[in-house]
Amino acid sequence: MSKTTFKAHTDIALIKYWGKKDEKLRLPENGSVSMKLSELFTTTTVDFSFELTKDVASINGFSTEKELQRTSKHLDRIRAVAAKQNLPMAKAKAKVVSENNFPKSSGLSSSGSGFAALTLAASKAVGLDLSQKELSILARQGSGSACRAVCGGFVEWKDSDTSEGSFSETIFPATHFDIRDVVVVTDPGPKRTSSTQGHTTAQTSLLFQPRQNSLPQKIEAVKTALSKKEFQTLGSLIEQEALEFHSVLLTSDPSFIAIKPGTVQVMHAVLDLRDQGVPCYFTLNTGHNIHVLTLPEHEDQVSSVLSGLSLATNVIRSKVAADPEELSTHLF
Ligand code: DP6
Repeated sequence: MSKTTFKAHTDIALIKYWGKKDEKLRLPENGSVSMKLSELFTTTTVDFSFELTKDVASINGFSTEKELQRTSKHLDRIRAVAAKQNLPMAKAKAKVVSENNFPKSSGLSSSGSGFAALTLAASKAVGLDLSQKELSILARQGSGSACRAVCGGFVEWKDSDTSEGSFSETIFPATHFDIRDVVVVTDPGPKRTSSTQGHTTAQTSLLFQPRQNSLPQKIEAVKTALSKKEFQTLGSLIEQEALEFHSVLLTSDPSFIAIKPGTVQVMHAVLDLRDQGVPCYFTLNTGHNIHVLTLPEHEDQVSSVLSGLSLATNVIRSKVAADPEELSTHLF
């Protein structure tokens, strides 16, 4: 088989995946909805070879033992599928080189785009020809959010109690609604607690169950706002969801304080912009870096105000991204 390279975009969760009902299979406690981002992506090249005695991986030019183990475990899942189809490369080890074009482990979902690109490149390199549903199920087991990152546009990952039922689908293509995302990097350094670690304490928050009860209705409301392209309704819903999600983080045991001074500065700047009549809304994951969604005609103003904040390092401006792409240029 041949060396294969895929580029997968990351996403921003409009409704967050938080907590797992099955940690091993990465079955989430709830469904989630996201929007893919054009300017935040991972590119990964995979090559299987009988000359290698173990898997080797480099992520942004380096890899920790923990990252190598997680990568190799994911390759094992892909080799297991290949072995069922009697593919010869199922017995080979792999070389993986992966690059993110944005800071990793800082709340910008690098594991989502990373495991999506790895799943796509490794499954093709080993000789598999999988459906998007099969790819999504496989990617999910590497990192939950990767299950959405194999799709394009606006994506839904439905709640399910089985591995077979827990996959994502595009609910609206990238062309459906031109929303712009401005990420404000408030600190390029890594976050204090990983999402994987945070998921394990989600249920300890007294706000967790009320959130679970209200989510099905909120997911429907977000999908309706997307379908009708009602930006202000959507914005209010997703900003409230982000604050509710962070309330769960703050009240978990141990508490998970992801926001930093720069994050709060951006939140206030967004409120000020809205007071001036500019439609823009924030959302954030488990890191300090923060996303601000707006409409195309306001993107320049939003971006210029946010990049001028004293605690902003830089901004990354994205449109809605389409499906992941296979590339003909490889990383090695
Ligand atoms: C807050 O997918 O990073 O970004 O499954 O343990 O790899 P693992 O977690 P991960 O969790 C993402 C959590 C989130 C919300 C979201 O993206 O839906």
